[in-house]
Amino acid sequence: MSTAVRDPGTPYVFSNDRPTARQLLDALGQMHDPFTIRRLTEAGVAPGSRWLEIGAGAGTIAGWLADQVGPDGEVIATDVRPQHIREHAGVTVLQHNIVTDELPGGQFDGIHARAVLQHLPERHEVLARLAGALKPGGVLVVEEMEAGWSKSVLATPDDRLHEITAHYETALQQVLRTAGNDPTWCRGLFTAMEKVGLEEVDTQSWQGAWRGGTGAALLASAGSTEQRERLIAAGMTADELDLLATLGLDPRVVLRGILLLSTSGRRAA
Ligand SMILES: C[S@@+](CC[C@H](N)C(=O)[O-])C[C@H]1O[C@@H](n2cnc3c(N)ncnc32)[C@H](O)[C@@H]1O
Repeated sequence: MSTAVRDPGTPYVFSNDRPTARQLLDALGQMHDPFTIRRLTEAGVAPGSRWLEIGAGAGTIAGWLADQVGPDGEVIATDVRPQHIREHAGVTVLQHNIVTDELPGGQFDGIHARAVLQHLPERHEVLARLAGALKPGGVLVVEEMEAGWSKSVLATPDDRLHEITAHYETALQQVLRTAGNDPTWCRGLFTAMEKVGLEEVDTQSWQGAWRGGTGAALLASAGSTEQRERLIAAGMTADELDLLATLGLDPRVVLRGILLLSTSGRRAA
């Protein structure tokens, strides 16, 4: 695995170098991996095919892809900070910035990215490059989250959580937007894929419900801890953040998940 340290130069605010990174990446996997696997299965992941996973995070999807393509296939997993990508004999890991680095050479049968492009101001240019790296008939699957925390509380021992999650949504959106994130991109992606010439464009969505310590509740606890200073600057109080961090780990809490919009498009054969 590549562990070379160089300045990744990305506006992404949740750094994989932080102590909370593993919790955040695990939460994303718990929330979304089964749905992503369903989407990729529907898209078609054939033995012997060549796949690119962008911003692989914990690498769980890259590992699953490698199991599907088998020894005759190839999976390349990239990330600006690749240290959490799990080792897998069938996965080649690259420290790679999707905005500034050349794509790995050759064309791909499939490319997948989840919760990456929304963070990058150059998302339209990146999408066009990814579409251009597909083989004829190849598929691009891009999945993005619509971070809505307000009205997400399904069960709580403390009613203050309703108001705190609403404050969290407002403050986090401000932090993310300031860094160049576009929270509407998950919806704009359908048209963006058609504009870069992809065909059979389709969007499916997934949300789910999560007990404290898992999925979206874990994401709220770890994410609010990681972004504490920025969230206070954006108007949250230290007390609110302490309570969100604690309740996000409390199994009596249940939060509705973060909506994931999964959009796929195919290059003409
Ligand atoms: C929200 S996490 C998503 C991780 C994984 N795709 C998932 O859904 O579980 C975003 C990932 O994108 C990576 N990333 C951020 N900016 C990037 C860039 N410019 N090029 C490649 N990866 C990037 C981050 O390091 C992080 O691992």
